[in-house]
Amino acid sequence: MTLPPATGPLLYEGKAKRVYATDQVDVVAVEYKDDATAFNALKKAQLLGKGALNCRISALLFEHLERLGVPTHYLGLHGDHWMMVRPVRVVPVEVVVRNVAAGSLCRQMPITAGTPLDPPLLDLYYKDDALGDPLLSEVRLERLQLVTSAQMEAIRDLAYRVNDALRQLFAEVGLELVDFKIELGFTGAGALVVADEISPDTCRLWNRAVSDAQERILDKDRFRQDLGGVVEAYGEVLKRVQGVCPEPRVYG
Ligand code: TMP
Repeated sequence: MTLPPATGPLLYEGKAKRVYATDQVDVVAVEYKDDATAFNALKKAQLLGKGALNCRISALLFEHLERLGVPTHYLGLHGDHWMMVRPVRVVPVEVVVRNVAAGSLCRQMPITAGTPLDPPLLDLYYKDDALGDPLLSEVRLERLQLVTSAQMEAIRDLAYRVNDALRQLFAEVGLELVDFKIELGFTGAGALVVADEISPDTCRLWNRAVSDAQERILDKDRFRQDLGGVVEAYGEVLKRVQGVCPEPRVYG
């Protein structure tokens, strides 16, 4: 067990992470919690080890993106469930890219789960728990004036680049990237970067070698659907990804 980094005040607490100030103005510390929530926190549990697994998986994926020229907020790991990141002004839009139909898409549209989506579908949601993260239309997005249209174009472009990079990486280790959610933010210098986390909490990942619709699930759907084996599934994702990625760097 590594000691937490020297942190300042708690800046923000979300459902799965806490963000703390550090003694450097351009660095914040993110603690990954073992808390699991679903359906806007209607369903909750503590899953021992989930925080550390998601922290390490996110570190590996952020570093992979960085190697491919996709900018992220990530700076380095610190201990087993902490990472240091650049502080960003998070754009309150959740960007979802879907390669295969699943989840809310199949609840809201007459489309069978498992149908390939080519080209991938990009959905935007307004990040607001009180409103239940509603799906945005182009005109609603414009009306909210959260970003300029040029910034929105840059966000879409980055989301597709993340999809291309991660889809290929996961395919190499026998996993299908069904869909995922990312959040983006602007650094103090005004650069647009991928922020938040990228983990089995925020991606749907199916084991390509398994055809059973429940058994193949290696992501938070195991928790959402009460399938059990959540931490074991996340551990399998980590094992596979770390088999093809360099050891993540330690901050400092
Ligand atoms: P959805 O099918 O529920 O719309 O989810 C699409 C993807 O986004 C899926 O990989 C899970 C992820 N996601 C989050 O990371 N956070 C959320 O709050 C929701 C609803 C989905």
